[in-house]
Amino acid sequence: MDITSLFDAPKNPAYFDSAASSLTAKPVRAKMEEFYSQYRANIHRGAHRYTKKASQEYEAVYAKLAKFFHAKESEFIQVRNTTEAINGVALGLDFQRGDEIVTTSIEHHSNLLPWLRLKEKGVVVRILEADDEGKLAPDKLKALLTPKTKLVALTACSNVLGTKEPLEQLVKVSKDNHSLVLLDAAQQVGHHPLDLSKVKADYMAFSGHKVFGPTGIGALYHREGAPLAPWFVGGGTIREASLEGYKLLENHERFEAGTPAIAEWMGLGAALDTIDKIGYPKIEAHEKKLISAMFSAFASNPKVSLYGPKSAQDKACALFAFSVGRVPHHEVAVMLDQFGFACRSGHHCAMPLTKRLGVEGTVRASLHVYNNEEEVRMFGEALQKVGALA
Ligand SMILES: Cc1ncc(COP(=O)(O)O)c(C=O)c1O
Repeated sequence: MDITSLFDAPKNPAYFDSAASSLTAKPVRAKMEEFYSQYRANIHRGAHRYTKKASQEYEAVYAKLAKFFHAKESEFIQVRNTTEAINGVALGLDFQRGDEIVTTSIEHHSNLLPWLRLKEKGVVVRILEADDEGKLAPDKLKALLTPKTKLVALTACSNVLGTKEPLEQLVKVSKDNHSLVLLDAAQQVGHHPLDLSKVKADYMAFSGHKVFGPTGIGALYHREGAPLAPWFVGGGTIREASLEGYKLLENHERFEAGTPAIAEWMGLGAALDTIDKIGYPKIEAHEKKLISAMFSAFASNPKVSLYGPKSAQDKACALFAFSVGRVPHHEVAVMLDQFGFACRSGHHCAMPLTKRLGVEGTVRASLHVYNNEEEVRMFGEALQKVGALA
């Protein structure tokens, strides 16, 4: 199958910013258009054929999520994005003064700020320091855990360094300590399978817009039996209501207050179908080639400082943060844009990690299945031109 036929990938500049947001696959756009043009109605309301069809298509997405992640339909909660999912867990768990949370030095702000905020309640936040290349060590995590560690909140892959983390071991060490585990899988799901029957996290968050899906939609996985109270209540969440009180529904419905993002949810389902259609083995093989081509492009340029893993086997995805001489990161990004490449520059919402790298910001090139080795070769040439100006 020709992967490129599934996307409208821009050529000039080429899109090298997939870690911020991936391109949206054509079948995703088609699915949303199908809903809007053929059965546009609210869901779970009334008996007419449009609402019935919309409800059926909407519900089918939970089944897709369950199959995709090896979990149960009822364990997925619709959210807007990874950030909302993680905040939901921070608000929905009953943290008490003295409870401890372990998170890491490589987190996106979305998996750091919600925990730091809990310090106001007297919660203790401990930080697992990654090594210089961004790798998290299970034995170091073990040393930080205590009987009071209520939650371990980890990224599956750094959005700055593209690290491959020993997820199963990190989760196991935490579970052996009877701690709850939250995985920030925002940078994982678009690149590698995540089998939740093996990686036994209690909560897992990801965003549709990073997995070929629409913006404004994501999912929170909430393992059956793991504690979590709804952070919003209202229409759609109750079994029964009176002027004195209410009884909540079971399962995910108790968390999904109000009319949901119907088209986007269907779009998310189509995004997962797209990943299935391409197949993770093909995505991984393609990215492996891109990763080694990118390493060659960087290696041949003495002006470039590359952050994070130095070898392809430690990279989870084709995501590279770098600096060129002393040229400010935004200037490098503007030059690269002029030479044909759309890269991100800044702190990538990971200020503590950026500070640890000893810089104010970096340029980030992040590629995906719709990029190719020829683009990487030309990117290497563009970097040489930028280097010559440094
Ligand atoms: C690792 C990681 N976590 C969380 C987020 C936040 O995702 P969103 O903005 O979709 O909520 C991102 C986005 O870049 C990310 O890369």
